[in-house]
Amino acid sequence: MLSYSHKNTSTATWAIMFLLISPTIFFTSSISALDPRWAAKRKRMSLKVRDMFYHAYDNYLTHAFPHDELKPMSKSFTDSLSELGNLKLEHLSEQYKGLALTLIESLSSLVIMGNITEFERAVYWLADNLAFDVDVRVNLFECNIRVLGGLVSAHILATDSTNRLGQRVYNNELLSLAQDLGQRFLPAFDTPTGLPYAWVNLKYGVMENETPETSTSGCGSLILEMGALSRLTGDGRYENAALRALRKLWSMRSSLNLLGTTLDVETGNWIEHSSGIGAGVDSFYEYLIKAHILFGKDEFWMMFQSAYLGVQKYFRHGPWYHEADMRTGMATYWQLTSLQAFWPGVQVFVGDIAAANSSHREFFHVWEKYGVLPERYLLDQQVVHPTERYYPLRPELAESTFYLYQATKDPWYMEVGESMLNSLNQYTKVEGGFASIKDVATMQLEDHQHSFFLAETCKYLYLLFDDSFLSGRNYIFTTEGHPLPVLSSWHERLPQTYLPSNWTSFESIHQARQTSAMSSRICPAIPLNSQHPNQQIESACHVLDAREDHRCLTDEDCGVDGMSCRRRSCSVAGYCGLWLRL
Ligand SMILES: *[C@@H]1O[C@H](CO)[C@@H](O)[C@H](O)[C@H]1NC(C)=O
Ligand SMILES: *[C@@H]1O[C@H](CO)[C@@H](O)[C@H](O)[C@H]1NC(C)=O
Ligand SMILES: *[C@@H]1O[C@H](CO)[C@@H](O)[C@H](O)[C@H]1NC(C)=O
Repeated sequence: MLSYSHKNTSTATWAIMFLLISPTIFFTSSISALDPRWAAKRKRMSLKVRDMFYHAYDNYLTHAFPHDELKPMSKSFTDSLSELGNLKLEHLSEQYKGLALTLIESLSSLVIMGNITEFERAVYWLADNLAFDVDVRVNLFECNIRVLGGLVSAHILATDSTNRLGQRVYNNELLSLAQDLGQRFLPAFDTPTGLPYAWVNLKYGVMENETPETSTSGCGSLILEMGALSRLTGDGRYENAALRALRKLWSMRSSLNLLGTTLDVETGNWIEHSSGIGAGVDSFYEYLIKAHILFGKDEFWMMFQSAYLGVQKYFRHGPWYHEADMRTGMATYWQLTSLQAFWPGVQVFVGDIAAANSSHREFFHVWEKYGVLPERYLLDQQVVHPTERYYPLRPELAESTFYLYQATKDPWYMEVGESMLNSLNQYTKVEGGFASIKDVATMQLEDHQHSFFLAETCKYLYLLFDDSFLSGRNYIFTTEGHPLPVLSSWHERLPQTYLPSNWTSFESIHQARQTSAMSSRICPAIPLNSQHPNQQIESACHVLDAREDHRCLTDEDCGVDGMSCRRRSCSVAGYCGLWLRL
């Protein structure tokens, strides 16, 4: 068990982190979860998930490997790493022939499912065949979480003595590959702000006239993979680059501690000021708390705490999260996006179980309404978005279900997992793998099996039913589901020269405190309902859960805005906010 040396963190937080990374030790007092009936069911379900994974994996190997991803309906392939994050599919490289993306993404899942033989076969194929000196423009964020994260995690698993590779001596080949890739990322960070370009060519670096536009998650969620690479290689450049970008990004927050969604890396100006917890921002929040767990810096915790309070104060409405303008905190879009479903998992890390549970339930209700989770759902009209009606086998709801089960051992979450597994088999399984859903209203399919289905969706469902991999180990998962170990040695301070202090405009800790939402600018806490002891934080960031359906009828239902201390009013659609009455 590692020892944490932090003083400023609440006991609840550490308790939750402790239980999360030691799942077998905690909550074993819950009788229902230990019921033999559940044990048998968990075994049965884990075998069903395993079947699902191998159906996806074997079909990939047969029809698509060594290309990037499987097209399960036509039983062919797509070299999609060059397209990821690229909505217009521009600059597609003619000569790019794929980098075995789905194989890389499957490595850690193979270990978690106990298939060391196949893991080893895949490791040595990559060691012998993978090369990154390819003329292809890739999305830095996607390539980092999928390829670099997949390789770094698999390297750690390959050197773990419990997964001893038997066929030949492992000579850190995956780490060498990761290092080669990491070096190819570095030119992207060579900007006036230190914020990386969204795109980089693996062979030639940043292209001429490259777009300076990127997203908050694109430059704020690189620290786990690049930090791990630095810790493993002793070469600080990767961690420094990611940390500098993260600090710069944080310095761009508004006085409400909110960030926008897109920005210009050359000027450091925001482009889209509206943001939420979904697309374009999601993993930024996730990586602040996970970086704190992995590297133990107080700086990450302070960023996370301020950011989390900002989210709870300005985006949350009952169990839902809408978007708001970072400058004013005014609500902008009342939409549920399927990527938001990761949030309850993050809330488990800070012990906000009640809030996590209630949001998770609402997400699952939407899942049940359609059979899967639509990409966007209009909260005010309770209908699926007119154009974003797809479900590309996303993992986020399974991920939150896994975390909530670990934290509570409430068997209901296993029923959620079973229902999701059944839906996936019923609606998305085809002879050649698992297909995405193009329209949740018609369940029309799309010929694409995303690599994250193997890296995350299958993995989290499997871990929900069989968490033996986590037994006696302290791991956190990257945003792509690749496990990284929590090591006390990674918590040690790096030499002073390692992190030039004049690299960023990040304020001193003292200044950061003064502008945080925890400061004196919050309203007096509204007396808490004693039935919800977990909602302490929300007393400061208050949106009253006045009614069962979380809609207001009158202004009286809405309470006071935490920042301005003005009374909120109730909109025509039944939402609380600081609405301007016309
Ligand atoms: C490991 O994976 C390979 C490839 O899918 C499969 O043939 C083999 O049966 C698996 N082994 C185990 C123990 O699951
Ligand atoms: C989650 O919410 C449901 C319904 O609101 C409740 O019955 C259940 O006990 C809650 N579980 C936890 C772990 O808070
Ligand atoms: C940062 O500090 C180093 C060493 O003190 C100095 O050489 C460098 O010019 C400084 N950079 C900036 C941007 O101030």
